[in-house]
Amino acid sequence: MIIVIDGPAGSGKSSTAITIAKRLNLQYLDSGALYRAVTSLWINAGKPEKGEFFNILTGIHLQAEYTDDVFHVKANGNDLTAEIRSQEVAGYVSEIASQPEIRSFINAVMKKIVENGIYIADGRDLGTAVFPDAFLKFYMDASIEERARRRFREMEDSGKEVTLGDVEANIRERDRTDQNRKSDPLKKADDAILIDTTGKTFEEQVSEITGIIEEKLKLKH
Ligand code: DC
Repeated sequence: MIIVIDGPAGSGKSSTAITIAKRLNLQYLDSGALYRAVTSLWINAGKPEKGEFFNILTGIHLQAEYTDDVFHVKANGNDLTAEIRSQEVAGYVSEIASQPEIRSFINAVMKKIVENGIYIADGRDLGTAVFPDAFLKFYMDASIEERARRRFREMEDSGKEVTLGDVEANIRERDRTDQNRKSDPLKKADDAILIDTTGKTFEEQVSEITGIIEEKLKLKH
């Protein structure tokens, strides 16, 4: 069973999904981390052409698991957890994620992962393309200024040297590519519940979504 939260970069999906996973005892799946991992592999392979990279990718076994407060990603046993959060990866990830072959590779990895357990996952196209029959779908959004401020604070806290302007420019560019790509663009599913977090506290957004999930779980039993 899967609950999905889609939305643009910096809308608060991942921190919200993690907190809800802990409160409701669900497993957490970070689909963006898988796109970042593939982007890292592409950079490490010397940024090859699409066809060549796709050949490399068919020999890669991606594993992902949220443990000890970190979403760990491994490719053929090599730990990519730290490097997938670099600015270089952030700069290329939307371009890599726009390729249909990459998307179907990652979709297959995700479908396999969620076979065992009850998951809450965050991404861009989970409710529209990957899990159209999800148990519940949410679409989180916030103004671009607020999303940039949140990302900037997160990066500052983890010791990264970036400016608010750089972070906002990166988010603006990612919104543009995520929303305009031909293959499964970022879009609210018709049956997704919209959660606009502009001006909401973290606890408010978490409680709102948790309440809806609990209500629907009650109806199921
Ligand atoms: O959530 P994030 O910022 O870590 O995601 C990184 C990138 O991956 C994002 O710019 C778009 C892409 N992505 C995607 O195309 N589809 C998803 N389901 C999740 C992420």
